[in-house]
Amino acid sequence: MLDVLRFLVPAAIAAAGVQGANHSCKNIPGDPGWPSASSWAALNKTVGGRLIATVPAASVCHKKPYHDYNETACDDLKTVWDFPQAHFTYPSEIGSAWFQNGSCDPFTPASQPCRLGNYASYSINVTGAADVVAGVQFAKKNNVRLVIKNTGSDVLGRSTGKGSLLLWTFNLKTTQILPSYSASYYQGPAIRIGAGIMVEEAMAAATRP
Ligand SMILES: *[C@@H]1O[C@H](CO)[C@@H](O)[C@H](O)[C@H]1NC(C)=O
Ligand SMILES: *[C@@H]1O[C@H](CO)[C@@H](O)[C@H](O)[C@H]1NC(C)=O
Ligand SMILES: *[C@@H]1O[C@H](CO)[C@@H](O)[C@H](O)[C@H]1NC(C)=O
Ligand SMILES: *[C@@H]1O[C@H](CO)[C@@H](O)[C@H](O)[C@H]1NC(C)=O
Ligand SMILES: *[C@@H]1O[C@H](CO)[C@@H](O)[C@H](O)[C@H]1NC(C)=O
Repeated sequence: MLDVLRFLVPAAIAAAGVQGANHSCKNIPGDPGWPSASSWAALNKTVGGRLIATVPAASVCHKKPYHDYNETACDDLKTVWDFPQAHFTYPSEIGSAWFQNGSCDPFTPASQPCRLGNYASYSINVTGAADVVAGVQFAKKNNVRLVIKNTGSDVLGRSTGKGSLLLWTFNLKTTQILPSYSASYYQGPAIRIGAGIMVEEAMAAATRP
């Protein structure tokens, strides 16, 4: 199974990348076109302080360059690392280790530096449409890669990207029951859900008396 994925994943990326893409390179940290600190601060203000400078979760397992090495926290992280849920509540963690590419892995030596690698550089903890609009406009204006993470379980790694601005939608937890929804193909009760709602949460909302 894993061998199949190893082959299929890069092939799928190559196939997805060629069609309709604008091949001019996106700015990444260190490029002259990378937004200044004051530009990021302005974006942060627009999104109500919900812009996060990402730090890999496994920074607690490495002594450099972050200063949050913590053996207990690292041991805890190791016990859950392989479960998708372990990555849901972090602003930039992803479930597919292949795309993390060992840049900050809890199982590599503590002396090895923790790098952002293919992780997003910044993440917006999205609370509504205005945050998404601000993120899309910022990415377009500054030629920065834009990615979306909900749970981070995308097996093609689309919820991450080197030097990207990430829209983190997992905290959009609204549910609304529509007792008599009507469309050309369906009439009846329906539920409108926020992007961060998972199946079990939708089920609970739909069956609530
Ligand atoms: C590609 O992106 C560059 C940089 O943002 C822009 O100047 C150019 O117009 C784009 N080209 C197309 C075909 O969209
Ligand atoms: C955004 O603003 C909040 C609130 O002032 C602050 O806690 C946070 O660190 C800022 N984010 C960045 C990337 O500077
Ligand atoms: C280290 O991590 C443990 C477990 O998360 C936590 O209880 C403890 O406060 C942390 N120590 C420091 C110094 O941050
Ligand atoms: C994965 O990491 C290796 C070693 O740091 C690096 O040479 C390679 O370019 C990385 N590959 C991707 C796809 O990020
Ligand atoms: C993201 O926002 C939610 C509220 O929408 C908050 O509960 C959560 O603590 C925030 N997470 C981070 C990492 O800032």
